[in-house]
Amino acid sequence: MKCYLDNGATTKVDQEVVKAMLPYMEETYGNASSLHKFGQDAKATLEESRETIAKAIKAQPEEIIFTSGGTESDNLALKGIAFANKDKGRHIITTKIEHHAVTKTCKFLENDGFKVTYLDVDKEGFIDLDQLKKAITKETILVSVIHANNEVGTIQDIEKIGKICKDHNIYFHTDAVQSFTKTIIDVEKQNITLASLSAHKIHGPKGIGALYIKKGTKIKKIMDGGSQENKLRAGTENIPGIVGFAKAVEIANQENFKNMQMLRDYFIEKVEKEIPETNLNGSKKQRLCNNINITFKYIEGEALLIKLDDKGIAVSTGSACSSKELRPSHVLIAMGIPPSVAHGSIRFTLSKYTTKEELDYTINYLKEAVKELRDMSPLWRK
Ligand SMILES: Cc1ncc(COP(=O)(O)O)c(C=O)c1O
Repeated sequence: MKCYLDNGATTKVDQEVVKAMLPYMEETYGNASSLHKFGQDAKATLEESRETIAKAIKAQPEEIIFTSGGTESDNLALKGIAFANKDKGRHIITTKIEHHAVTKTCKFLENDGFKVTYLDVDKEGFIDLDQLKKAITKETILVSVIHANNEVGTIQDIEKIGKICKDHNIYFHTDAVQSFTKTIIDVEKQNITLASLSAHKIHGPKGIGALYIKKGTKIKKIMDGGSQENKLRAGTENIPGIVGFAKAVEIANQENFKNMQMLRDYFIEKVEKEIPETNLNGSKKQRLCNNINITFKYIEGEALLIKLDDKGIAVSTGSACSSKELRPSHVLIAMGIPPSVAHGSIRFTLSKYTTKEELDYTINYLKEAVKELRDMSPLWRK
């Protein structure tokens, strides 16, 4: 049996998405900037797709800029706001549990003379709104807080964060790559200025994403070239990717999310009952419908991952992007989990294709693999 439980890293492209994309490679392949019919047909599709994405977050179409994915959107949001508003101030607030696309961009900005405050999180991964309020100074130009964490699935109260930013007249960016379509994003109600989105986490193609930028926001482009995407993102638009992204959004279905949530809770309950000395990381209530992150004490996550892989079960340790690093996850460390314990954590992320049979198969083998590894561990039951 093959069980792909790494949908937080990327997802299988839906057949409907593939079908929607093909004509834009084989027939309507014009450049959307060209004046001829081939180009204008591509342009019309581009604008239709923009409308679909905008509608999904209650934005206006002209507020959506297509990018190459979540990483580029995060870079454009942070650098673009920082460079355009440095006369007003050079202070940015973010959290200790952001994706590297945000943390590493913040490090870049620190090297460029900006000051960055990294907010703490509690043991479930929530920021403290009072700490956020206290961190704001006259110099603060931007607050960037991840909506749903990619490692532990904790969903922040972005409406309250947005309100604080609005009251202080500060731009608010949220990395919504993991939460998009799975939770409600309403940019008006939640006072969001910028939101990063990506297609490949929602059964769309890789290499396409978007940045929502509220009308009137002062932002600078970070790449020079053509004047595509409202002069904010140079480069010929990836029409097949954009069409696939819009189709993935269009077919995202609340019923699928409810089913994933049920399977998620079934898996958590079964692991907690059947495998001793485990701990669910993150919040039980405010959690992404497809995220399970569990620490198996007294073992190394990497060793468990390899054993599971041998049986056709794909999972990850830490975040997709840091899973090749042997340092413990910065997210788990920020949540107060000791490094030795954090090393034994595994992330299982479900999709609409995940079945109960796959989860039963995984749990059965998990029990065996955890026991084998613990029997080899000098720390187990000493
Ligand atoms: C929260 C978050 N932000 C950003 C990214 C990067 O997105 P992309 O792979 O589209 O560049 C990811 C991908 O893992 C993510 O989970």
